[in-house]
Amino acid sequence: MCGIVGFTGQRAASGILLAGLRKLEYRGYDSAGIALDAGNGGSLSVLRRPGQIAFLEDAMDLPDSNMPQSATCGIGHTRWATHGPPTEQNAHPHTSQNGLFAIVHNGIIENYAQIRSILSAKGYVFRSDTDSEVIAHLIEDAYKGDFEEAVSMMLEQVQGTYGILALSSLHPGTLIAVRKGSPITVGICRNETLIASDVSAIIGHTDQVIFLDDDDILVATPEDFHITAWKTGPVSRPTTTVDWEPGAIEKGGHPHFMLKEIYEQPEAIENTLRGRLIEADGTSKLAGMQMDARELANIDRFCIAACGTSYYAGLVGKLYLEAFADLPVDVQQAAEFRDRNPIIQRNTCMLAISQSGETADTLAALREAARKGATTLGICNVVGSTIAREAGRGVYLHAGPEIGVASTKAFSCQVTVLAMLAILLGRGRRLGREAGQTMVKQLADLPDICRRVIDASDTIRRVAARYTEMHSCFYLGRGYMFPVALEGALKLKEISYIHAEGYHAAELKHGPIALLDKSVPVVALAPDTPGVEKTLANMQECRARSAPVLAVVTAGRRHGADCADDWIEIPPCPAFLTPIPATIAMQLLAYHIADLRGCPIDKPRNLAKSVTVE
Ligand code: AGP
Repeated sequence: MCGIVGFTGQRAASGILLAGLRKLEYRGYDSAGIALDAGNGGSLSVLRRPGQIAFLEDAMDLPDSNMPQSATCGIGHTRWATHGPPTEQNAHPHTSQNGLFAIVHNGIIENYAQIRSILSAKGYVFRSDTDSEVIAHLIEDAYKGDFEEAVSMMLEQVQGTYGILALSSLHPGTLIAVRKGSPITVGICRNETLIASDVSAIIGHTDQVIFLDDDDILVATPEDFHITAWKTGPVSRPTTTVDWEPGAIEKGGHPHFMLKEIYEQPEAIENTLRGRLIEADGTSKLAGMQMDARELANIDRFCIAACGTSYYAGLVGKLYLEAFADLPVDVQQAAEFRDRNPIIQRNTCMLAISQSGETADTLAALREAARKGATTLGICNVVGSTIAREAGRGVYLHAGPEIGVASTKAFSCQVTVLAMLAILLGRGRRLGREAGQTMVKQLADLPDICRRVIDASDTIRRVAARYTEMHSCFYLGRGYMFPVALEGALKLKEISYIHAEGYHAAELKHGPIALLDKSVPVVALAPDTPGVEKTLANMQECRARSAPVLAVVTAGRRHGADCADDWIEIPPCPAFLTPIPATIAMQLLAYHIADLRGCPIDKPRNLAKSVTVE
C-alpha cells in the first residue's frame, strides 16, 4: 500500500506534493520521491530518497537538487515495498528510458517479469528491481504522439492492481491517472487538479472530490479534466463533499489504526493470496521460496522461531505442516530457540516469522540456525527488512503497513501464508490433487468469512461492555483454538491492561482452575473444530466454579443456554481456517474492551511496535 499524489495548476508543485506525501506517509514509508515537469519539453526532473519523507524534503532544499522550484506540474510517491528493497533506485517515480515520461504506482503488476523480458529484448534497460518500472517503459514504447492513447495501450499489457499517475514533458501540465483495484481520489479546485491515493492528501485544498472507478482513465490539465472508462468511452463520476477531519482520514475514518487494520484483514488476506493459489493443480505458488520441487521434497523437519503474535501464528503453522505435509515441526519463542543450542540437521528448514522483520530475538535465532547450516526462510511483512534479507528467501505478506502496536492483520496473513506453505509442501508429499483443490478453494473464500466476523463488530462491542471491569480472565482452547487462546489473551493484555492468560482447555483442571470464581471470567474458544465437545465439558467445569463463560462458537451452534453466559458467533468455516475468523473476533473483543476502558489503543504503555533489542 503506497501513497501517490499529483498536482497540476498555476502554483508551484513541489511544496504541494511534499505536503501531500507527508499526509500519506502512514501508507508506506520506506522511500519517497517526486518528479517535476519544468515545462521546457526536456527530461523530467526526478528526486528520490530511501527512508522517510523528511530525507526527501532535505534533499529538495539542497542547492544542487536541480529540481525546478517553479514547476507547476508533478507527481510524488511514498513507498511500501512489495518488489525490491527500499533503495533509491527502487523508489518511485520511475522514468521511461528516454526520460520523457514518469510514473508512480500503488499496487502489484503480477506479470511484470514477462513484460520485463519482452522489453529487455527490445533494448529497454531496467534500473530497478520493481514491478512498477515496466509501466514507464510500456508508455514510452507505445507512444506515437498521443499520451492518453499510449497509457491506454500500456493497460492492454499489464495484469494486477494499480493506481497509476503519469506525466510527460511532451505534454506540459497534463496528468493522467488510471485506477484498477487501488483507489484514486481527484480533488476538484479552480484552475488546478490534485490527485491522490486517498483523500487525506487533498483535504485542505478542497472538499470537492471524485473517486475514480476501476478502469477509469482521468486526464487532467490546470484548466480542465475528463474521465474515460477504458475501452468504453467518456464517463462522468459524481462529485462528493468530504467532511472528514484530516486526522481521522489517515485511519480510513476509524478512530484508531488498530481498528482500521482489523477491518483491512479481508483485503490484506486477498493481497496475501493474490497470484499464489493454483486451483487447477490444488497447490500454491510461493516464488519467494526460491526452492524447486526437489529442494522442497528434501526438507525433513521445520524449526519455527518467532515472538509474540508471530509465535502464535507459528503454532498454527505447526498444526498445518504436520497435518498436511507430514513434517515434524518444532516451534519455539525465538529467544529460547537461540539460547538452547538448537538441533539443526542436514535437511532442517528454519522459518523465521516476523511482521516487522526487525525483531532482535528472531533475528538472533535466524542467525543461530544459519550458523548451524539450516536452510532459512522468512515470513515477513516489511520488504527488505533485516530478517527478510538475511533469511535470503521466504514469503512476504503484502498486508500493507501495520501501524497499531497490537498486531492484527499480520497474524491473519501469516497464518494464510503458512496454510499455502503447508499445501505446497503437502502436494509434494501425500496431499492429493483433489484435497489440495478443496483447500485452495476454501482459502479463496476466507476473506468473505472474515468480512462477516467484522460485520458483527457492534454485537461484539455489546458483549465487551459486560467485561470491562474484570481484573483477570482465562482464554481456553485446544487444537486449532489453543494458539487462538494465547493470541486472544495477548491482545487483551497489551491494549486493555487486564491480566489474561491463554491456556489449553484440558490443562485448566491441572491447577489453574483453583483461580476460578465469579470474578474471573473464561473466554472459551469452542467453534466447530476437532475436540470442541471436550472444550464444552471444560466450560461446564468453569461454570460449576461460578466463573462467567464467554463462548466463541460457530453461528447457530450455541450448544444450549447452560453452556455459557455470553456468546460470540463466527461464520461456519473449514476447521483448518477457523483460527483466522476466531482471532479476528478476539481482536475485536480486546479492542472494544480497551476502547470502553478509555485506553490509548494504538500506542499502549510500555510497548513498541518492533522490539529491536534482545
Ligand atoms: C503483538 O500484538 C505484539 N505487538 C508483539 O508481541 C509482536 O507480535 C512481537 O513483538 C513480534 O513482532 P514481529 O512480528 O514484528 O517480529
